[in-house]
Amino acid sequence: MMSLICELSDLRRLYHKRVPKMFQGYCESGSWTQQTLSLNTSDFKEILFRQRVARDLEPRSLKTTLVGQDAKMPLALAPVGLLGMQHADGEILAAQAAEEFGVPFTLSTMSICSIEAVAAKTQKPFWFQLYVQKDREFTKKLIDRAKAAGCSALVVTLDLQMIGRRHADHRNGMTAPPRLTLPNIIDIAKRPRWAMGMLNTKNREFGNIQGCATGVDDMNDLMKWTAGSFDTKLGWEDIQYFRDIWQGPLIIKGIMEADDARECVKLGADAIVVSNHGGRQLDGARSSISTLPEIVEAVGDQIEVWLDGGIRSGQDIIRAKALGAKGVMVGRPMVYGLGAMGKPGVSKMLEIFHQEAELTMAFIGHRDIHQVTRDDIVLRTPFPR
Ligand code: FNR
Repeated sequence: MMSLICELSDLRRLYHKRVPKMFQGYCESGSWTQQTLSLNTSDFKEILFRQRVARDLEPRSLKTTLVGQDAKMPLALAPVGLLGMQHADGEILAAQAAEEFGVPFTLSTMSICSIEAVAAKTQKPFWFQLYVQKDREFTKKLIDRAKAAGCSALVVTLDLQMIGRRHADHRNGMTAPPRLTLPNIIDIAKRPRWAMGMLNTKNREFGNIQGCATGVDDMNDLMKWTAGSFDTKLGWEDIQYFRDIWQGPLIIKGIMEADDARECVKLGADAIVVSNHGGRQLDGARSSISTLPEIVEAVGDQIEVWLDGGIRSGQDIIRAKALGAKGVMVGRPMVYGLGAMGKPGVSKMLEIFHQEAELTMAFIGHRDIHQVTRDDIVLRTPFPR
């Protein structure tokens, strides 16, 4: 089976067979018309490589540092909520695959496995992603728990103070755990591995956010709960507070404009992630890859600028690198690997991306990832700005 998996789409096909439809919908959908979701991937096709020949290509390396931490390639696993619904113990398995491979894993605030459960099953530090809530004591407690668990970076996501409306989740009646309606029972019966895994795991804290009861079980509840709990008055001065209480690397995620990027520099963040939340929030926004160059131009010499959204191969890592990204995060590719085969599936996705990136780097004439620059690509059409 493993030897037949050549590219991400092979893992995605298997993912569709093994994971219940409502969680597929939760993973793959974007907000409203899904225009931004689609631009995130299609804009990568606008970036063409310049092929070079007769270069010394030995030895080759994609190794880099991300916020000062060694990584085998310039990639981190993005925070993805409810990962433990895609596969039993999902957050633990993805974290283990990442640490074995040598790239960071980011645990979402909205995870099924708690910070402590992931820490207990991993050796190396992982990163923790924070959604800022009105209840500052609760928010601070989450940070304290991340510190106690040895998390080595804090990722503060700023583009989800309200939840974008994702029609697929409403149509699919997304709930965690799934409600036992006849269509759900039939769908789950076709996916016995998933069901057995869920029955056997102890990490099933549905409706809890990091072990704290929310009363949330479906998307309507989640929207109501978020509206009541997430801080919609959040300003830059509030974020300064997190900079002050978190001494380790601070990464701000969800930046799409140069002015906002400059604010992150001012408050002393270590990195920003140019991101539109994988097209799940503001539909009609530009793709993240098309926004990257102007943000790199504005702040790239003062802060690490990363990108997420639409990375579907190792070639896309090189494209993002050529446009100035220090690193990338991947969300759905991790989910496809995890849902398809658990931990070996995430490892396989990472191996495929590494091979594709290394080979592409060689074809454009480089043996070290730091040699990749804007001169290695051409744009078919200029990105809008
Ligand atoms: C996300 N994303 C996300 N981001 C975050 O900061 N906290 C979270 O809990 C989640 N949850 C989440 C769930 C699912 C199912 C998806 C697909 C995404 C956004 C994620 O971190 C990242 O920005 C995008 O996934 C990047 O786009 P790609 O790689 O999925 O195209």
